[in-house]
Amino acid sequence: MTAAPLPKSGILDIKPYIGGEGRLDVVQNPVRLASNENVLGCSPLARAAYLAGADDLHRYPDGAATDLRAALGRTYGLNPDNIVCGAGSDELIGLFVRAYAGAGDEVLSSQYGFLMYPICAKSVGATPVAAPEKDMRTDIDALLAAVTPKTKIVLLANPNNPTGSYLNKADMKRLRDGLPPHVLLVVDAAYAEFAQLPDYEDGRALVEATNNTVMLRTFSKIHGLAALRLGWAYCPPEVAGVINRVRGAFNVSAPAQAAGIAALSDKDFIQRAIDMTNAGRTQLTDGLAAMGFKVWPSVTNFILVRFGEDAEQIRLSLKQQGIFIRQMGAYNLPDHLRITIGTRDDNARILAALKQII
Ligand SMILES: Cc1ncc(COP(=O)(O)O)c(C=O)c1O
Repeated sequence: MTAAPLPKSGILDIKPYIGGEGRLDVVQNPVRLASNENVLGCSPLARAAYLAGADDLHRYPDGAATDLRAALGRTYGLNPDNIVCGAGSDELIGLFVRAYAGAGDEVLSSQYGFLMYPICAKSVGATPVAAPEKDMRTDIDALLAAVTPKTKIVLLANPNNPTGSYLNKADMKRLRDGLPPHVLLVVDAAYAEFAQLPDYEDGRALVEATNNTVMLRTFSKIHGLAALRLGWAYCPPEVAGVINRVRGAFNVSAPAQAAGIAALSDKDFIQRAIDMTNAGRTQLTDGLAAMGFKVWPSVTNFILVRFGEDAEQIRLSLKQQGIFIRQMGAYNLPDHLRITIGTRDDNARILAALKQII
């Protein structure tokens, strides 16, 4: 046989993204805390809306996601024309990178920024550049210092995964003001709903004040719809026009659109998820700190914990008991593990198991 065709340069440099583990056939009732999912499940209204579409699976969805964008517009007070929906925010990250960067360009993010950012940069032949962080926090001066004439996009998760830290409104404005106008700033606010702090801003204000900033949101976290793949971008009109040109014509499925609209209306579910997360974060943070582990401050539905050189051993021991948490080797943090906040019982189970292991 002849050699397989070679892909474009950069593609084979990508280490494929490996999602959080959650399966171990020998264990009943696994505790799945490796992927920052919503451990409460999803809103019953969303589930019902999803099921209600079962007889229409032969129909194409509305490619413009008109009703969903209208619902997002009503919920957040935004112009639906400036919203673009995607098959998860992952798809949107890829579309922004594809539309605004290519071979020879640089895509800038923070040292411990979300792993998909460098993957997407490489997939279009661009060079990912990472600015160093201090104490697991994005360093704006370092980001600005890393800008070169080749920089086309800055991808920034706020709050960030996997560190859990956030930048406040003033920080974000300083970043935007310091970036050259031709650089697109993508504020990935996947965990915005958990960051209930007066000085947190999801990027919306910057989108409205500039023509070079976008905000990304997802239904995978607070709404618990990760399986359906649903995210959205709020953009200046010109940028929305660009992404609408490059996205798939039917990139968001009909069940996802229907469930998304219903999820937005279920304020009780959203509040329950926030309350559970806040209580669980304190429960886990206090429990882990009492065992002597360093827990980085988090405003999200997960925490990053330094377990030291035994981190992988600890993770494997927990896995044997059906408790799945995330290894951080891919982020060059092999002595850390990331734990999604669980229910009160999940958190108690992981703390009890850890006590035994150490
Ligand atoms: C910061 C960040 N952005 C985007 C995503 C992707 O989310 P989605 O499920 O919408 O593709 C994740 C998922 O973990 C994330 O942590």
